Amino acid sequence: MPTKHRAALLGAGPAGFYTAAALLKAGLAVDLYDALPTPYGLVRAGVAPDHPKIKTVTRTYDKTAAHEDFRFFGRVKLGEDVSREDLLARYHAIVYAVGTRLDNRLGIPGEDLPGSHAATEFVAWYNGHPDYADREFDLSCERAVVIGNGNVAIDVARMLALDPDELAVTDTADHAIDALSRAQVKEVVMLGRRGPAQAAFTNPELRELKDLQRAHVVVDPGDVELDEHSSAWLDGDEAHTTARRNVEILREFCDRDPGDHVHRIVMRFLRSPVEILGEERVKGVRVAVNQLQPGDDGRLRAVITGETEVIECGLVLRSIGYRGEPIDGVPFDERSGLIPNAGGRVTGDDGEPLPGEYAVGWIKRGPSGVIGTNKKDAADTVARILEDRDAGALNDPAEDGDAEAWLREHVPQLVTWEGWERIDAHERRLGEPLGRPRVKIVDLEEMGRIASGG
Ligand SMILES: Cc1cc2nc3c(=O)[nH]c(=O)nc-3n(C[C@H](O)[C@H](O)[C@H](O)COP(=O)(O)OP(=O)(O)OC[C@H]3O[C@@H](n4cnc5c(N)ncnc54)[C@H](O)[C@@H]3O)c2cc1C
Ligand SMILES: NC(=O)c1ccc[n+]([C@@H]2O[C@H](COP(=O)([O-])OP(=O)(O)OC[C@H]3O[C@@H](n4cnc5c(N)ncnc54)[C@H](OP(=O)(O)O)[C@@H]3O)[C@@H](O)[C@H]2O)c1
Repeated sequence: MPTKHRAALLGAGPAGFYTAAALLKAGLAVDLYDALPTPYGLVRAGVAPDHPKIKTVTRTYDKTAAHEDFRFFGRVKLGEDVSREDLLARYHAIVYAVGTRLDNRLGIPGEDLPGSHAATEFVAWYNGHPDYADREFDLSCERAVVIGNGNVAIDVARMLALDPDELAVTDTADHAIDALSRAQVKEVVMLGRRGPAQAAFTNPELRELKDLQRAHVVVDPGDVELDEHSSAWLDGDEAHTTARRNVEILREFCDRDPGDHVHRIVMRFLRSPVEILGEERVKGVRVAVNQLQPGDDGRLRAVITGETEVIECGLVLRSIGYRGEPIDGVPFDERSGLIPNAGGRVTGDDGEPLPGEYAVGWIKRGPSGVIGTNKKDAADTVARILEDRDAGALNDPAEDGDAEAWLREHVPQLVTWEGWERIDAHERRLGEPLGRPRVKIVDLEEMGRIASGG
């Protein structure tokens, strides 16, 4: 039995860090890999820049990183720079914490017209993810449509509506501050395919829309008059307080005076996009008017009525959920878009667990839940790892040498925690005179130079 079991964690987002903390506590040595030279996953590249308090959770992750048995191996992409086999040759356990980078598709005509984008890409662009920094979003239109009724839809609608003064004090990437400050978008229409009672917003995120400096929220009172199914559901035991409060908040929005706000966020319900219109680029969205009907599982479903309408717009952001990306050599379930697993143990084609391979976070359970949800999720996966350790059922690596020495030879661009700390200090230094938390570096080569002290 080795003196210390070694675990490779792939993905330095919340799930990776919570798993690292629990494994270190249990006496394992942890190498945390990430495709980017920067840690924190969606806390850096997803959480809205005007929500800086949420990002302070990284202080907890930094404490984990200070553990003597922790190492960070940044800019090492599983499937490209290292393979699953490379890791199985060197570690007793590998844990996939790679998140779900891609987007769900609507599957409607016009979805890929210029001007129609996945919200995942818009989010990564304004947050300075290096792979998305050179994307272009034409913001010269007056009306944008955001499809979806989740918190990501609220984030992107709000980012489009923020005043340049509100943006200027954030860590939004410079290219996005520049583009958003010059944007002509005056109206953002948010489309929910179901009703207000079924929206996936959380209460603080929805309520916050009324506090925007220059934008007014518009909700048609007719839209918050609930159908009989929704009323019955909302009054029943099954409905969550969040849904009840969402409906109350939306009703409060109906009564608000627009004041001198010139920008608007218009929330529409029971509307499904059926076609994105335009020839050279987006000109509008044809939407079907829906009604709700209980499905076989009791869930209220949107059913089209046959009535349609057209919303003219020049920009469409599709915010209907994230989806996992297959990684070369790693099991992947095409249907769910996730790594197949049984309670965190990765399963092979025969449905049996693969020794020493685990999944955690969004790639394990699907793209939902807030940062803290991943802590419990990590505890569950770590419990399986420890059971397997105690049963002598972890992977038995062939190589006993130091993984860092091997990595340095094979992955010259490797960025360690010290390298990340240099990038972090550099970004903060740039931000300080501007009253911003940081100015993000978005070029990988520049990050590499800073990380190596150049
Ligand atoms: C736009 C947006 C805003 C959000 N805002 C909030 C919020 O305000 N508050 C809140 O509580 N929750 C928020 N969430 C939810 C929260 O971000 C997630 O619950 C959480 O980030 C999921 O953690 P994860 O570690 O599974 O995935 P991620 O955070 O996505 O981390 C995955 C990591 O894996 C790395 N990776 C991917 N592929 C590879 C590979 N092949 N090799 C190596 N590394 C790889 C990625 O670079 C990334 O660092 C938000 C989510 C989104 C999408
Ligand atoms: N501030 C925060 O705390 C914060 C910020 C951002 C994200 N997050 C979290 O991150 C997770 C992911 O958020 P998300 O917004 O990407 O996902 P989400 O909460 O699952 O919302 C997805 C939305 O897309 C709709 N949708 C799905 N398929 C559709 C289709 N074909 N046509 C039209 N609409 C469709 C869904 O409607 P149906 O309900 O009808 O399926 C739902 O309204 C959530 O748990 C969220 O709370 C949190």
